[in-house]
Amino acid sequence: MSENKLKEMAIEAATKAYAPYSKFKVGCALLTTSGNIYTGCNVENASFGLTTCAERNAIANAVNSEGAIGILSIVVYTSTPTPTPPCGACRQVIYEFAKNTTTISYCDSEEVFHHSINDLLPGAFEFKNKK
Ligand code: THU
Repeated sequence: MSENKLKEMAIEAATKAYAPYSKFKVGCALLTTSGNIYTGCNVENASFGLTTCAERNAIANAVNSEGAIGILSIVVYTSTPTPTPPCGACRQVIYEFAKNTTTISYCDSEEVFHHSINDLLPGAFEFKNKK
């Protein structure tokens, strides 16, 4: 599965973004270990805190279809001069399904953001060491 296909699908997903407040449209496409691609866009709300990011919506779409997923690759696109890395909340959610993947962010310039989830979120929270 080519990175370019994921990029194209993330660009397409961004066109669906519901972002009347920020006007900042984000698209995400991810490839699961079963070989399927899922997309998501950001969905804003008048009560700003209820906004959901493109990355988390793509992951929710994947889980809604497949159940527990493994993420092989995750791509984000914004129509901006510099790439947009995933926000902190999305990093924790990406980590849940992809302990070793690389996140790739594209924009409208040649600049590409390319980082492992471990670089983005060192010491991620894990539900362990329960009493
Ligand atoms: N946003 C995302 O969709 N993903 C990110 O990783 C960063 C932020 C969205 C949320 C909101 O709709 C807009 O971008 C501005 O923060």
